[in-house]
Amino acid sequence: MEKIMQNLPIHHPKNFQNGFDHDYFAYLRANKPIFKQEHVSYPDGYWNLVRHKDVAYVSRHYQLFSSRPNPFLDTGEGNDMDEAELEFLISLDPPDHTKMRKLINRGFTPRRIQDLEARIQEIVDGLIDKVAENKSCDMVSEIAVELPLQVIADLVGVPTEDRHYIFELTEATFGFDRTVSPEERHKAAAEMYAYADKMCEIRQDSPQNDLISVILHAEIDGEKLTQMQIDLFFMLLQNAGSETTRNLITSGTLALLNHPDQMEILQADETKIPQAIEELLRYVTPVMQFKRIATQDTTVADVEIKAGEPIVMWYPSANRDETVFENPNQLDVERAPSLHVAFGAGGPHFCLGASLARLELQIMFRELLTRFKGLELDAEQSKLPRVWSNLIDGLAKMPIRWDDITEKVPVPAVSAA
Ligand code: HEM
Repeated sequence: MEKIMQNLPIHHPKNFQNGFDHDYFAYLRANKPIFKQEHVSYPDGYWNLVRHKDVAYVSRHYQLFSSRPNPFLDTGEGNDMDEAELEFLISLDPPDHTKMRKLINRGFTPRRIQDLEARIQEIVDGLIDKVAENKSCDMVSEIAVELPLQVIADLVGVPTEDRHYIFELTEATFGFDRTVSPEERHKAAAEMYAYADKMCEIRQDSPQNDLISVILHAEIDGEKLTQMQIDLFFMLLQNAGSETTRNLITSGTLALLNHPDQMEILQADETKIPQAIEELLRYVTPVMQFKRIATQDTTVADVEIKAGEPIVMWYPSANRDETVFENPNQLDVERAPSLHVAFGAGGPHFCLGASLARLELQIMFRELLTRFKGLELDAEQSKLPRVWSNLIDGLAKMPIRWDDITEKVPVPAVSAA
């Protein structure tokens, strides 16, 4: 088992083209829980963490491990977008991060998320009705991509007629498409900022009931977000909310198709779906890693780390840590509430959209499990193409077919369950 993945450095996207290599990471957890990897962009290489407790330690000690200049691990292929100078929320440390997150939280209240429930149900129903007659579709593009994109557009306030334009820009900026050049990425990012500027201009004197209006006018201790901060947040939200949720929908469905006994448990008792979503988040873990930089000489997992050295936290590995999860490779939709780190392992950057993602996923899986009859994968599983990324573990295409989709019956709201 002593190998470097496919003889490539661990951060190379090619390593993840057949999915996350859980056997290799189990070997690392047992034998090399912390190790250094060389990298063209980091002169002294970077450290890798694979155990749950070490990932949690680094996530929570933000004074020792900074998110500056950004938490993205370069692919080393020379075509990464240069986010170094960008003040994304996810790239800040407290106290700057705390200030910005407080302002943004004004527009991300539990109430505002709850208010989206009926709309999410409407979007899910619409997507399923649209494909129902065909008896087959590509689950990625026709179902999974559309839900989070539409929900974020609703939340933020992007009008229907502009949505596909914004979707295309989203795909071009962070979308893991190797054919998009750095110039095209920059151009798409600039168009996104210009679009957010325009939205703010319209809302400056006539606020609307949307997130952009709230964060544009939010003020704490006399401080407001700058136009650039709003633009960057607009872009981060599109990507953070859509590239992630879509992959839990597809890979989560695939996991259930591979475990019909688990699927039957949920079909027999829908009230188990919220708990099952947590297990699917653990089992699938769409975000593979984030990076931090040591702010001073310190120690992690009994190894000395020097100030300035990058350190990467592998979330799917932490989520299969046998010291935390019994039979970690088993999908068990009835698993007791778990300490999974799919949304981060605690600390200031814990996923801002976790409750929105959970709501979308609960509604989507309830409909998939109850309305589709004879659902199956319509392709050879080992040949399903994946996105080219070391950040997101996801399918690029997932052909599915089914015998029938039953008529929609009104269901109680998730919040009423
Ligand atoms: C299954 C879906 C999702 C997964 C697996 C996921 C995962 C993550 C992870 C791992 C982090 C970093 C945590 C850390 O560094 O400690 C994060 C941060 C973030 N997520 Fe999510 N996310 C999901 C959905 C969403 C949605 C729906 C939104 C918004 C609509 C969203 C917005 C964000 C933002 C803005 C941050 C940065 C927060 C900060 O830096 O303070 N995410 N997410």
